[in-house]
Amino acid sequence: MRSIELHPALRGPIDVKSKQVGLEHPRALLRVLPDQPGRLLGLANRHVVSAMQFERDTLLQLFRLAAMIEIQPSLQHLPLSGKILITAFYEPSTRTRLSFESAWHRLGGDILSITDPATTGMAKGESLRDIAEMFSNYGDAVVLRDTDERSVYEMIETLRVPILNAGNGIDEHPTQALADLYTLFKWRPALCSEDDASRVRIGIIGNPSKMRTVRSLLILLSLFYDRIDEVVIVNPSRDLFDEGQRELLESRGLRIRAEHQLRGVLPELDVVYINSIAWIGDTFERLTGDMGLSADSGLRPDAIVLHPLARGEELDESLDDTDHNWYFSQARGATFVRMALLTSMVERVHRVADVRPPS
Ligand code: CP
Repeated sequence: MRSIELHPALRGPIDVKSKQVGLEHPRALLRVLPDQPGRLLGLANRHVVSAMQFERDTLLQLFRLAAMIEIQPSLQHLPLSGKILITAFYEPSTRTRLSFESAWHRLGGDILSITDPATTGMAKGESLRDIAEMFSNYGDAVVLRDTDERSVYEMIETLRVPILNAGNGIDEHPTQALADLYTLFKWRPALCSEDDASRVRIGIIGNPSKMRTVRSLLILLSLFYDRIDEVVIVNPSRDLFDEGQRELLESRGLRIRAEHQLRGVLPELDVVYINSIAWIGDTFERLTGDMGLSADSGLRPDAIVLHPLARGEELDESLDDTDHNWYFSQARGATFVRMALLTSMVERVHRVADVRPPS
């Protein structure tokens, strides 16, 4: 944009103070979490493909390590020094790829990155099994995003290093769900305190059968069913769950209600999680109906809003400067959760937390 006047943002130094994020939330979380870092040793050399792989106590230790890193991100020893991560993103991404790569760099490792399958042997018809064999030779861990939900499962047949599912079609996005839960617990640490019976009611504006973030989040929430009054799924559609999906979540203790209108239910909700995009092949569908949120929507004064982003019209910018906005914190915290997870998976957790590996 040409102008004869200097843009206001260029007239002085960047307003760093307004970008600083308070550390009171990770500190508060640390105070309530038990110190059992040995639980993280169970993540070493494991793939992370589904939220179903996690247990409650492991998550709490992962969040404890993430909070420690968030408070002191400049680590004394770089635990992944000399290790190589391969990131393969065959679908667009801002947050997931960059926060995984930022996490690995901050841990001292190096990265090989593929953002276009046409630049690999896939363009010549090479199988994912063979590509996985090569990944095992060149890297120490792999992060994969693919529109085809089967790809990650094909790769684990031959991979000899851990793979992290960064979104497979409409199936799952487990590390996004970890970031979501970490944010929830930083907002309300009492939810993971043994000495407190706090509970919350969570609204999810989305479709559990078509949105991978929602599918993975519901699985993780079911591990904390006793701290959740109810999950209210808000969607105009009546076709919300895959066969057996709701039954599985309810069998794990989660109480679920479906609502088809947003306005009536908003005053009941402590947390509103909104995600309007469902990937369908190479394109995506957005939520239909009056499902948008703005500062005037009638949220409870103390309610928080989460969104995995990228946002569309459903999340109005009028919320950005309100106390409801926890979605930017959610995106920022994802790096610390991924640092904690990667360190654990590559068997280097003892270099960050005070824990000895088995002799
Ligand atoms: N939350 C999330 O998956 O964002 P990206 O699509 O930008 O990675």
